[in-house]
Amino acid sequence: MTDHFIAPERAECADAIETLHAEAFGPGRFTRAAFRLREQGPHDPALSFVALSPGGDLLGSVRMTPVVTAESGRHGHLLGPLAVAPKHKNQGFGRALVRHAVEAASVTPDSGFVLLVGDAPYYAPLGFCQVPAGRLLLPGPVDPRRLLVHPLGDDAIVKALAGIVGYDHRPAVRATLGCAG
Ligand SMILES: CC(C)(COP(=O)(O)OP(=O)(O)OC[C@H]1O[C@@H](n2cnc3c(N)ncnc32)[C@H](O)[C@@H]1OP(=O)(O)O)[C@@H](O)C(=O)NCCC(=O)NCCS
Repeated sequence: MTDHFIAPERAECADAIETLHAEAFGPGRFTRAAFRLREQGPHDPALSFVALSPGGDLLGSVRMTPVVTAESGRHGHLLGPLAVAPKHKNQGFGRALVRHAVEAASVTPDSGFVLLVGDAPYYAPLGFCQVPAGRLLLPGPVDPRRLLVHPLGDDAIVKALAGIVGYDHRPAVRATLGCAG
């Protein structure tokens, strides 16, 4: 693995991350259900991480957005986008960033799960399982096989999740903004 360090995302990373997302996902990213959920409010920079070279070049990025399920009132985080710079793929950066974000969320008070839309073969070894079909609704269509969740603490939360997933506007959650500086 290329020399690197993982750090909370800082404001000055925003342009490089946007370029990475454009490269990784193309213009189609704006129509995805997860993107539309993320449009409801800012990601949490304290739980969003970048992998950087010793010289400060961006190698990869993962973001986390606070979410809440309408029907069951469960608080958690939506993981994504996750992207690794093309020339640094397959060196473990993606997995390291996911592990870092999940670990950080697991010590965040009142975050019960990490949700994402992604490929199960990649995320299952990292502790993610499929959300029982039809239980959660995102603001757009999602292939149920790609709606994955990682319980934090109590595995029973997977069966308890229900309803529309929306941005978590609680002041306590929003108060984490600015911690990355
Ligand atoms: C997906 C992505 C984040 C993986 O990051 P990475 O640092 O290259 O991956 P890692 O080094 O952690 O893991 C590599 C392993 O995952 C596998 N892998 C990569 N993408 C995969 C996928 N979509 N589904 C299943 N396995 C995948 C690789 O084949 C490799 O397997 P191996 O260890 O058996 O050789 C990166 O390829 C990327 O940025 N892709 C474009 C954006 C994207 O698709 N993001 C994920 C959205 S869900």
